[in-house]
Amino acid sequence: MYDIAIIGGGPGGYAAALYAHNFGLSVALVEKDRVGGTCLLRGCIPAKALIESGEVFATVKSAADFGVTTSDPQFEWPVAIERKGKIVEGLVNGLAGMLKTRGVETLNGFGSLAGDGKVVVAHEDGSSTEIEARAIIIATGSSPATIPGYEINGSTIVTSDEALDWESRPESVAIIGAGAIGCEFASFLADVGTEVHIFEVQDQLVPGMEPEAVTVLSRAFRRKGIKMHLGAGVGQPEMAADSVTIPFGDERITVQTALVAVGRRPMTGSINLEAIGVTTDNGYIAVDRATMLTSAPGVYAVGDIVAGTPQLAHVAFAEAIAAVTHLATGETAAIDYNAIPMVVYTHPEIAWVGRTEAVAEADGFVVTTHEHAMRGIGRAIIQGQTGGTVKIVAEQDGKLLGATVAGPGAGEMIHELMYAIGFEALPSDAAAFIHAHPTISEAIGEALMASAGRSLH
Ligand code: NAI
Repeated sequence: MYDIAIIGGGPGGYAAALYAHNFGLSVALVEKDRVGGTCLLRGCIPAKALIESGEVFATVKSAADFGVTTSDPQFEWPVAIERKGKIVEGLVNGLAGMLKTRGVETLNGFGSLAGDGKVVVAHEDGSSTEIEARAIIIATGSSPATIPGYEINGSTIVTSDEALDWESRPESVAIIGAGAIGCEFASFLADVGTEVHIFEVQDQLVPGMEPEAVTVLSRAFRRKGIKMHLGAGVGQPEMAADSVTIPFGDERITVQTALVAVGRRPMTGSINLEAIGVTTDNGYIAVDRATMLTSAPGVYAVGDIVAGTPQLAHVAFAEAIAAVTHLATGETAAIDYNAIPMVVYTHPEIAWVGRTEAVAEADGFVVTTHEHAMRGIGRAIIQGQTGGTVKIVAEQDGKLLGATVAGPGAGEMIHELMYAIGFEALPSDAAAFIHAHPTISEAIGEALMASAGRSLH
């Protein structure tokens, strides 16, 4: 009898397994693949590794502007893929080692629920093992969604799963969906020389993102030569051996590959949830947000499968901590979902935390907003990256509600605003601190000063 049985070894499951050592709990972790989940094997880490290669290439190509001479730089796709593979390999091995050190028993196979704290693990060789635990954490994650007619064949129609392992750089790509995944691939592929078309049914890139950041990203995409088809659904594809033709409106384009990036679906289908009384909604599991408990006693759910919370690795980590804390101590470690940073790793990066202006208004706040553009920031000019902005959303005469940073290093800088928003600071509280000069972060200081009612530059 284990204290916890966890199904799924991605960021939700492995974080729960690792965190359990704080309470001296015994853990069985069931995983059908290698540990690491989407994040480590098919998502965050491999994608950002390739994006980093693309950014280095873009920097080298612009070296002459900085007085550095290079000979005709080339992007060696196989080398970037190999580097990405090594990074993934290193992190997966490191994680497996850490789980072992912490005494977590990892069982390889497909886990399903058998009721009364039991989990059946079906192994690849046809055998199965039944384990029993005092509590169960379901962390089975998600897989790419598809659209009718766009059957994934691994060559002319792919998802991010296959695109991360392309053996060579495609000459042309149509990306369907301009969310985080679509835009990150568009940015990277265009940086390394691929012809990119991106289709989005809604009328902006990254629906939900602040319009000021959308403007920054759209301008950057235009400069990279990305063809943006917004408010544009796609018709049924016409398949050829090594290309695909996509109709939209009265037009059609032929590309080497279509990359479908229209969201992700929870992988909860065949683990026997209903049999043990776990309520689902369209495949997602409803939980009590304070404890991560499902409708079945002693059964928790964390990560991409949870209904209504963002599908992000760092949210899965936090949900795992909340679940383990509750099952070990009975205490709640509820997550402040209003202070979760979100980063889109395009070039330039876009990051935000808390409420956008539109969400704040929809939540009933009377808001004020202030912006500071990167073009006046010395360090941004020095880096040759002035396309960017900082936007602060605050309650009128009240606390900070949200912030967006678009520009170099946005994904790192957003965390100072995460604390300010998480601690419910007033703009004047946050503006009282001094930012080092010259730094990109000064744009945040300037926007906070403006938000506090007294701007400087
Ligand atoms: P998403 O839901 O963020 O975006 C999908 C986009 O596809 C939406 O804008 C939607 O309007 C559009 N769409 C849907 N059907 C379409 C159609 N037929 N034609 C054209 N457009 C269509 O999903 P995405 O980008 O696939 O990402 C999945 C999840 O993974 C998201 O929750 C995302 O936040 C997360 N993720 C986060 C990353 C990050 O934090 N940097 C990176 C990658 C993924």
